Amino acid sequence: MKKTAIALLALFTLWPLSACQKQPQSNAQTSSELPQPVASVHDLMLTIVDPTADSLWDSVGTIVTKAGIEERRPKNDAEWEVLRQKAILLTESANLLALKGRRVVNPGQITSDTGIEGVLGPEGIQKEVDAHFDQFRDKALAFQLASIKTLRAIEKKDPEEFVNVGGQLERACEGCHVAFWYPPSAKTKQ
Ligand code: HEC
Repeated sequence: MKKTAIALLALFTLWPLSACQKQPQSNAQTSSELPQPVASVHDLMLTIVDPTADSLWDSVGTIVTKAGIEERRPKNDAEWEVLRQKAILLTESANLLALKGRRVVNPGQITSDTGIEGVLGPEGIQKEVDAHFDQFRDKALAFQLASIKTLRAIEKKDPEEFVNVGGQLERACEGCHVAFWYPPSAKTKQ
């Protein structure tokens, strides 16, 4: 009886510990100094970079549907302000990408297309980023400069300029992806 009680006690004391250990750990070392990266590059792509860029691209332009041609424009100052806030978020996200030590994925994460031929898997991307971090940071800078141009077009409330720089922004995304995510050398599955 006593033994069972001790065993149970041990189980309940250890259980929360092992449950915690199973959680994927972020790469933060809980250091007392900032900046320290917590999210992975993958997290940043999915939570900030991609949704923010998409909502900007979707908000201005000529959309052709079966119903006809729709010229999408912000209708008033409040709508321009929403775009401005998104452009600020995108611009600052480049600084987050440029932070040294951020992992491509945190333990337990995989990228959405891991295993697909022609793309590097997380380990392959990590190797490339570690070996060429200056280049990765340059790509983040090009992305920031395109985001700043987008911000300026929004501040001027100029839809034509916005559409122009929207193309540059897309090329800045691709510039990093083609170097670090699906470079020509990525022929093998990871
Ligand atoms: C400085 C480098 C860099 C820039 C700039 C960048 N990305 Fe990425 N992105 C990556 C890397 C590395 C991956 C591969 C890791 C991954 O799949 O999450 C990636 C993956 C992605 C993914 C796939 C995530 C997944 O696994 O499902 C999307 C979507 C994405 N990026 C969108 C964008 C968009 C949109 C922009 C520009 C507005 C952009 N990225 C700019 C580095 C960058």
